[in-house]
Amino acid sequence: MALDDINLTIRAGETLAIIGHTGSGKSTLITHLNGLLKAQSGTVIFEGKDIWADKKELKNIRFKIGLCFQYPEYQLFEETVYKDIAFGPKNMGLDEKEIDRRVRQSLAYMDLPESYLERSPFDLSGGQKRKIALAGILAMQPDILVLDEPTAGLDPAARNNLFDLIRSYKEQSGTTVVFVSHSMEDVANLADRIVVMNKGKIAMEGAPEEVFQHADELLAIGLNVPAITKIFLGLQKNGYPFQTVYTVEDAVKILKPLIGGDTLDA
Ligand SMILES: Nc1ncnc2c1ncn2[C@@H]1O[C@H](COP(=O)(O)OP(=O)(O)OP(=O)(O)O)[C@@H](O)[C@H]1O
Ligand SMILES: [Mg+2]
Repeated sequence: MALDDINLTIRAGETLAIIGHTGSGKSTLITHLNGLLKAQSGTVIFEGKDIWADKKELKNIRFKIGLCFQYPEYQLFEETVYKDIAFGPKNMGLDEKEIDRRVRQSLAYMDLPESYLERSPFDLSGGQKRKIALAGILAMQPDILVLDEPTAGLDPAARNNLFDLIRSYKEQSGTTVVFVSHSMEDVANLADRIVVMNKGKIAMEGAPEEVFQHADELLAIGLNVPAITKIFLGLQKNGYPFQTVYTVEDAVKILKPLIGGDTLDA
């Protein structure tokens, strides 16, 4: 069995990160969220209802829970960027005017100019294709945005850029975001809460400052903590009574008064 004994509540408006070593069940878990996979036992409740209770409703659920697969750019198929982004809203049965509004808005969320709309998606770079695929999901205006390793395979600059765009989309829309990531830094910077998967089960769950306290347990299941957290845990072990820190920003707040604030630029 790929998953076992999963009890997970996703809170409205939160940003939830799912971490776990390769094969731990992260992708399997998120494909259950919108009913692409059906669990042999157990239920997925969305807005108070079992998503499988009414099969006709399941289609609507898939509009409300927008799932972006790992490497979504491989699923682009239309001849123009416009048509690709419009595909989801069209399926929802929206009128042309609303589709057009959403296509342009979603492209803007991904910080791409409108001149892209008439281009072929196949002429774009990998990172640009990824943004188009993501825009296609945003255009459905899902209540929950689920992203499976959204920055996998991108270079550091493109990763930071995409994460910034996801963060600002979240701030503007208030959408609940669930994302899978292998980068502890990205998780620390974005997540309100973390779920740690191991062998198909939830091994740990909590706010970043709680989960990253357990560096030894995380290491034991093939994971890590952010580099800055490692440094602070090391200092604690050597008798320095620092609190655990998991972003560089927080580290600066602690160190600035100790080192002399004026020379450091936070
Ligand atoms: N439909 C399925 N039925 C049974 N087992 C599956 C199914 N899909 C995947 N698995 C198995 O479930 C386990 C978890 O796979 P999954 O793809 O969810 O891992 P993951 O955590 O997303 O890994 P990665 O970080 O490599 O993407 C693997 O051992 C896989 O072989
Ligand atoms: Mg996966």
